[in-house]
Amino acid sequence: MPAVVVLGAQWGDEGKGKATDQLGAATDYVVKFNGGNNAGHTVVVSGEHYALHLLPSGILSPGVVPVIGNGVVIDLEVLFREIDDLAARGVDTSALVVSSNAHVIAGYNRTVDRVIERFLGARKIGTTGRGIGPTYADKINRIGIRVQDLFNPDILAQKVTGALAQKNPMLVKVYNRRAVTVADTVESLLEYADRLRPMVADTPLLLNEALDAGRTVVFEGGQATMLDVDHGTYPFVTSSSATAGGACTGSGVGPTRVDRVVGVAKAYTTRVGEGPFPTELDGPQGTWLREAGGEYGTTTGRPRRTGWYDSVVVRYASRVNGLTDLVLTKLDVLTGLDKIPVAVAYEVDGRRVDQMPDNQSDFHHATPVYEELDGWDEDISAARTFEDLPAAAQRYVLALEDLSGARVSVIGVGADRQASIVRHDLLPGERTLVRGR
Ligand code: GDP
Ligand code: IMO
Ligand code: MG
Repeated sequence: MPAVVVLGAQWGDEGKGKATDQLGAATDYVVKFNGGNNAGHTVVVSGEHYALHLLPSGILSPGVVPVIGNGVVIDLEVLFREIDDLAARGVDTSALVVSSNAHVIAGYNRTVDRVIERFLGARKIGTTGRGIGPTYADKINRIGIRVQDLFNPDILAQKVTGALAQKNPMLVKVYNRRAVTVADTVESLLEYADRLRPMVADTPLLLNEALDAGRTVVFEGGQATMLDVDHGTYPFVTSSSATAGGACTGSGVGPTRVDRVVGVAKAYTTRVGEGPFPTELDGPQGTWLREAGGEYGTTTGRPRRTGWYDSVVVRYASRVNGLTDLVLTKLDVLTGLDKIPVAVAYEVDGRRVDQMPDNQSDFHHATPVYEELDGWDEDISAARTFEDLPAAAQRYVLALEDLSGARVSVIGVGADRQASIVRHDLLPGERTLVRGR
């Protein structure tokens, strides 16, 4: 009954999509458990690029049942656009199952997301502007709209009326916007209800029964540990639980059923949006990393901030998620560097600290303590075994493994599905990289 969680160990965009896709052929269900269309996962199959936002990456493997769990917030227009775009490229999405308890992003929450950012000015979070934060706020505030509400127009109208009783005074009096009407909101929410209805199911029941029957379930995290609302660099975070516990609350599968928790980390670090980033490189080296790694957002196209590998961050991710394995991606991007600095600790107000500071201000003041590792010049993109890597690249991986709190089971050497080295299979008893199905 393998249940494997795949999540980000840094600030997102580590290559979770590729990691999930690689497991695809050996997987029966792939579950998105948090976030919404703030996520952007690029998967490359035989040179073809697919950018996935709301659909779990496993959707590209025939025979896998993709599931949108209760922990997700759904923009229905984006969901159906993504489904239609994939269908136009010959990808069968007909098996998609959507939780009846997932929340729906109403138009007013996209507006609220953008006006709040504007009002925050210099203190903005740098959100993706997709309405994610306000929709989760409504969920916690118990005025959210759920998938199941769309199938009873009277109940939907009641819930929208309740939500707007709070939203409209804020939009009008605080943010100087026009009030939103119940009728318009209900109408736009109902636009996709008939298309959605056949996909909706009791997904916690479905997934637990699948595990009972010995099926393989992969839980695909959106965002990452350092963007998690509890464990990330609050308030510069997203509004969902992107850590391992979120896989349970966001899917209705208990922690005792999870076999593996796989953290995905880049061989360096990137971040999109505002917030602290100790190993960030502002100068030409940062630009070099951005260009070498193609570090532009899959969702917003924003240039990603870049920096060296921060083992304090990944050690922290190992701890708060209970990581069993790491997938180390984009090792190929570092080819050509003479020396590669890696942060092994921080200095905070003159003191050396080896663990993530618990206090926000300390983290904002942290400066990295670097160790320099030897680089390599050889093209590693064709490497398929650890021994194929040059000795310095092997030493780099082993040093990171030593520093990061979990074994490096898979190494990414290119964007394509095949461009990986598997040291330990991620699915117990399965070949991780099964080609075709
Ligand atoms: P995600 O959000 O975690 O799924 O990551 P993104 O898709 O946003 O960003 C990762 C980017 O790196 C994508 O463009 C991937 O195609 C690419 N990628 C993933 N793994 C590797 C790798 O090992 N090497 C290289 N060169 N690119 C990779
Ligand atoms: P994937 O799944 C990188 C960042 C935004 C912003 C903060 C809050 O592709 O790794 P939000 O719109 O969620 O309220 O924005 O979180 N962010 C991401 N950064 N990758 C992502 O997703 C992200 N999703 C949100 O840039 O700083
Ligand atoms: Mg991404």
